[in-house]
Amino acid sequence: GLLNAILVASNRGPVSFTLSEDGSLSMRRGGGGLVSGLAEVARDLNMLWVCAALSDGDRGAARLAPGGRLDHAGYDTGAVRMLDIPPTIFHRAYNAVANSTLWFVNHLLYDTPNRPQFDARFGREWESYQAYNEAFAMALAEEAAHGARVMVQDYHLSLAPAMLRGERPDLRVAHFSHTPWAPPEYFNLLPDDVGIELLEGILGADHAGFLTARWAGAFMDCCEAVLGAGVDRTARTVTHGGRTTRIGVHGLGVDGDALWARAREPDVESHMAALRDQVGDRKLIVRIDRTELSKNIVRGLAAYREFLSAHPEWHGRVVHLAFAYPSRHDLPEYREYTAAVQRCAQEIEDEYATEDWAPVILNVHDDYPRSLAAYRLADVLLVNPIRDGMNLVAKEGPVLSPNSALVLSREAGAAAELGEHALLVNPYDVSATAAALHAGLVMPEEERARRGALLAAAATALPPHRWFSDQLAALK
Ligand code: G6P
Repeated sequence: GLLNAILVASNRGPVSFTLSEDGSLSMRRGGGGLVSGLAEVARDLNMLWVCAALSDGDRGAARLAPGGRLDHAGYDTGAVRMLDIPPTIFHRAYNAVANSTLWFVNHLLYDTPNRPQFDARFGREWESYQAYNEAFAMALAEEAAHGARVMVQDYHLSLAPAMLRGERPDLRVAHFSHTPWAPPEYFNLLPDDVGIELLEGILGADHAGFLTARWAGAFMDCCEAVLGAGVDRTARTVTHGGRTTRIGVHGLGVDGDALWARAREPDVESHMAALRDQVGDRKLIVRIDRTELSKNIVRGLAAYREFLSAHPEWHGRVVHLAFAYPSRHDLPEYREYTAAVQRCAQEIEDEYATEDWAPVILNVHDDYPRSLAAYRLADVLLVNPIRDGMNLVAKEGPVLSPNSALVLSREAGAAAELGEHALLVNPYDVSATAAALHAGLVMPEEERARRGALLAAAATALPPHRWFSDQLAALK
């Protein structure tokens, strides 16, 4: 029905379903920065969340629900409509275009002598990306009340805003990028028509949001260089084809109270006790990521190894807890990367482990309460992505462990807000990262506490509700 005044659209929704052999469905929360930020907001606002069915379990759930709509799906997420997109189209749009192409462009991940290569096969994949965006635009057009506000999320849905405007000019549409945006000289790796369509797709929105001024600036640079659009960098507007889109910078942080409430639950406390049993009173260097190419986990392990080699006085006195959770395993690059992470950890183990000291503990099974326990125990938190839209780990850590030191990549969006109080590193510079790990460990208690308080304050300055309501207000 045409009842929804606020709609959100994203590829991954707040819940996903697994189909077990006996045909029953079990439900779990979605992961990643986008869902962590939005789930909390969706709970409290009366909005419809339109997302894609990601698995056979999701497709099963979507078919059981009337109109594909899962009302109050159990995790207090509000109403969810899962789109049952044909598997081949979904696979090409999500894996081939969104994750193997657009994600690579935005995070500067291509190894350019070999990839990318845009050929006839990519042409078919791009058509699927268009069809996938069309499916979202049609569903949103069907569900939205007159004059409703529609908040379209991320690089999976770059074309949907312009398509939706074509169907429903009465709607007010926002698009938000949770990733970095590439500078024009890198964006230009894309075929000309693809680059133009992506930019014009987002410019179909009234408001295009980014996590930092740097990514918003890169987007405006691309609009100017690729489209010849009129860009006003002071007013933050882009004018193209007779329409003006406002560009917004909306940093996303964490809700400190909600995070602490969860982190004090008994399951977290028991993980803390178990970790303490395992590592004793040794210092802890912690990292928590999806096993994601942009997170730079292999160089992080190389830095820890170099630190151990340069500082034998720390042997036996420090443990690196590296939590690297499964992600995007349909892509061969991600499977190979997971293996590389495991190899590096094993090499450190082989070189340095003793009978009573495991220098690195690598955990590859996703466990949220255990992650919260690790944050609370951390002495140094390592966040060293090659490039990252924001990075919420860099914000959750200082909230839960206000006396820890933060080693942070200068290429993470979070560096714009936390950089002054963190130990900033060039993520490619393994030696500098090793030195920063050492500096974090030997930082005087008083300085750690002073920096930690400033980090926690900056991390909680823009909680998800604020991030979302600012964008809603910008659409008025
Ligand atoms: C990033 C993206 C999100 C995505 C998440 C997890 O945070 O910005 O859109 O949901 O990664 O990735 P996945 O492919 O598992 O949804």
